[in-house]
Amino acid sequence: MKTIYFLIILLLSLQSYPIYAEQHHPLAKLWEVDDTEVPNLLERERTLIAIDKNLSSILEQDDFISSFGGTYIDIFENHIVVNTVDSSKVDDLLALPQIKPNEDFLSFKEANNSMSLLKSNFEQILHQADLIRPPLVVIYTDMVDNNNVIYVPNITSYTEFLDATKPFDPIVIEINPSASQNLAQSRRNINLIEVKVLGGDGLHNDQAGMCSAGFWVIDIDEQGNGQKDFYIITAGHCYEPGVWTHQPWGYNGPPLLIGTMVFNSSNYDFGVIFLEGKDVVPTFIIRNDEADQYKELIITGGESVSSHDVHICKSGYKTHFTCANVFGVNGILVTLDGKISYDLIISGLRSDVGDSGGPVLSFQDLHSVVVHGIHTNGAGIAQSIDKIFNELNKHYKNLTLYLG
Ligand SMILES: *[C@@H]1O[C@H](CO)[C@@H](O)[C@H](O)[C@H]1NC(C)=O
Ligand SMILES: *[C@@H]1O[C@H](CO)[C@@H](O)[C@H](O)[C@H]1NC(C)=O
Ligand SMILES: *[C@@H]1O[C@H](CO)[C@@H](O)[C@H](O)[C@H]1NC(C)=O
Ligand SMILES: *[C@@H]1O[C@H](CO)[C@@H](O)[C@H](O)[C@H]1NC(C)=O
Ligand SMILES: *[C@@H]1O[C@H](CO)[C@@H](O)[C@H](O)[C@H]1NC(C)=O
Repeated sequence: MKTIYFLIILLLSLQSYPIYAEQHHPLAKLWEVDDTEVPNLLERERTLIAIDKNLSSILEQDDFISSFGGTYIDIFENHIVVNTVDSSKVDDLLALPQIKPNEDFLSFKEANNSMSLLKSNFEQILHQADLIRPPLVVIYTDMVDNNNVIYVPNITSYTEFLDATKPFDPIVIEINPSASQNLAQSRRNINLIEVKVLGGDGLHNDQAGMCSAGFWVIDIDEQGNGQKDFYIITAGHCYEPGVWTHQPWGYNGPPLLIGTMVFNSSNYDFGVIFLEGKDVVPTFIIRNDEADQYKELIITGGESVSSHDVHICKSGYKTHFTCANVFGVNGILVTLDGKISYDLIISGLRSDVGDSGGPVLSFQDLHSVVVHGIHTNGAGIAQSIDKIFNELNKHYKNLTLYLG
């Protein structure tokens, strides 16, 4: 009898294993939950982001900007945390007709730094960066920390800049955005029957080495005549003359021609490769890692990131598919040669040389994603997609995301 009882328990637990304890989806790993819980959490996150968009624009107004200090999203608690400097203004905020219906989704947390203070300190720090041009410094506003954050490659070598910015009270973190983490590369056999080029696949150029494909775009103005021109967006700092070839993950076979980089922005870190090769096919798919499910993620659109502490993922040749949380959306980076890049997304995404240009994205549901930009540097730095298209439309061509 006892044996049967244990057998039943064993069978039950074996049976329940695939239903309750699978972590195949990248977000299941990030959130440390089972696959089955992901759709519900994603739905929560989407709802909170929609509310946060309205809320943040209201908090920017004169009435509130010196009383509140930014917001961020907590999907597990199912609320938006509102950094609150002056709690006497909470009732005024909750009295607004756009806010009132969403009251239950707001959690007011005591904080010291108002948005107006954070913004003015940010401007002052930026001004010092502009004067001193400290290479490989990153600056952004972190809503979870309710403060501005500075990344420096090495604290002891940046005393001039750090002394100059001390009055503005930033959090200083030692991170080198160009450091390589030397991760082991996986060796996986790729089925070469379909030579689709997916976001996150490797791109190789003899002089530049490895970068990653971001996403495919097409020419808006040419859609009438039936023949489409296709382009891949990747990182601008990958630029070298000569051709780029396709290099899927873990593949060392003969390279297939894609084409040359026909445009690279001088203001933002992205470039455009024109498809000339006949053996590769454009897609609106992003490559996920070696998980046996969710290998190919469908792109349904592109938009900028608006909220803090929401999930973000990237796909790249070297470190493959990873997810993390958004720290800041107003990032700036002083490059090695002293130029300043603006409008960067800063996140916890870790990466390595070869991932540059790979897409950053968030999930809409388990299989479909929205692209937010391209990965450009270590320390989780990405160029926002809206700046890429604005710049293309201004200085090159009217291109748009290829969605099939
Ligand atoms: C945002 O505000 C607009 C206009 O006030 C309103 O129509 C919409 O329902 C709001 N959205 C959310 C999610 O609260
Ligand atoms: C605000 O500042 C005071 C004084 O520096 C400090 O004691 C307190 O912990 C701070 N509060 C928060 C929420 O950071
Ligand atoms: C930081 O820079 C100093 C002086 O340039 C150097 O001695 C030290 O080794 C560096 N530290 C790291 C961790 O790179
Ligand atoms: C592209 O990059 C190369 C090398 O940095 C540079 O010479 C060229 O001017 C850039 N093109 C544009 C349009 O910025
Ligand atoms: C893009 O389209 C707009 C509006 O149709 C047009 O004014 C602009 O010149 C186009 N840009 C380029 C670079 O062709």
